[in-house]
Amino acid sequence: MLTKVIKIDNDNIDDRLLTEAAEILCAGGLVAFPTETVYGLGANGLDEEAARKIYAAKGRPSDNPLILHISSAEEIVPLVQSVPEAARKLMDAFWPGPLTMIFPKSSIVPYGTTGGLDTVAVRMPSDPVANRLIALAGLPIAAPSANRSGRPSPTTAEHVMQDMDGRIEMILDGGPVGIGVESTIVDVTGDVPILLRPGAVTMEMLQETVGHVDIDPAITGPMAADVRPKAPGMKYRHYAPKAELVLVEERKNKAGGGTRRMGQGRYAAELTVPEPVSEPISEAVIGRINRLVQEKLSQGYRVGVICTDETENQYPAGIVRSLGIRGQQETIAHSLFAVLREFDDLQVDYIYSESFARDHLGQAIMNRLTKAAGYHVIYTNEKKEEEQHGRQ
Ligand code: TXA
Ligand code: MG
Repeated sequence: MLTKVIKIDNDNIDDRLLTEAAEILCAGGLVAFPTETVYGLGANGLDEEAARKIYAAKGRPSDNPLILHISSAEEIVPLVQSVPEAARKLMDAFWPGPLTMIFPKSSIVPYGTTGGLDTVAVRMPSDPVANRLIALAGLPIAAPSANRSGRPSPTTAEHVMQDMDGRIEMILDGGPVGIGVESTIVDVTGDVPILLRPGAVTMEMLQETVGHVDIDPAITGPMAADVRPKAPGMKYRHYAPKAELVLVEERKNKAGGGTRRMGQGRYAAELTVPEPVSEPISEAVIGRINRLVQEKLSQGYRVGVICTDETENQYPAGIVRSLGIRGQQETIAHSLFAVLREFDDLQVDYIYSESFARDHLGQAIMNRLTKAAGYHVIYTNEKKEEEQHGRQ
């Protein structure tokens, strides 16, 4: 299949170009399009056959449900059984925007879209290209991130091209996305909203809007083999770079800072009290990363380092990439997946990364990083022998 790439001028969106894309969607085809979070791979969300094509193009297990994207809030009505009070508040506060909510599904939503679940994920993106495309198609658009399964989510049309060329009908190129990590997911089917995936609508913002919010344990640590995560996607080793990624962190960031209990009952989680986001990374972390890099280089491996602008010139060896200024979480989030992809392209064997505070957008950054690392974290005051543990 020939994949057509169409450039869209975000400041002057040409409806004729988007109409061609909308027609593909209405005819059951696949179109990748920009959203404010990451690029999505869209198909008619009410057509099981179209959903099947998404799974095939991504190489994704079909028990992993898709998010339905809508262009105005009222479009949710036929898709769900009800819109609870908390969901209404969250919609008012954050739609259009990077927030997905889980509702009991209506009968028109096929199980082929929801991975067999009785619930459906719905989001209204703010990106003007996404919004206009969905409106022109006149359908809820099922769209996972437009990467091949296991690859980092795409934040540019070029990333989509790398993964999807020849597999889908069209890519709308609206330039780099704004946020760079996927939407926040909140389950609103129960009495208390549950955060299933952290994103740019942060825990702090959710709590400010609806009060108490629980946290799914899949966010903070590896899942036990017998536990079914509420967001089935969280069980896969997502965002996985081809290299072995290891995070290096100061112990005080884990325990020394003190832990705080968040959530209640089944979903309670111990969370680290974060250090201020702008706190400089310690000499101990830099020294440990440099020693690890040297060790792997001397064994003949290709090694990458993920750091920030403040520390970039303190890593003399390996392929060093900065995510931006440490105190600017938006910048860090925005470059994270692009840097992981670049290391894939450079075929590095090992990547050592600085870690980040876990408050605000840092919760999403650290969630994606620790998952990409398979939860392999080295603490600076641990002995070397212990470093081999922890990789799941
Ligand atoms: O920012 C985003 O959300 C992007 C853009 C394209 O909108 N989309 C995205 O989709 O990240 P995807 O498919 O890569 O991730 C969707 C996540 C998966 O972890 C999936 O398991 C979860 O949402 N999910 C979808 N429907 C669900 C449901 N009914 N219940 C629980 N989790 C659900
Ligand atoms: Mg994804």
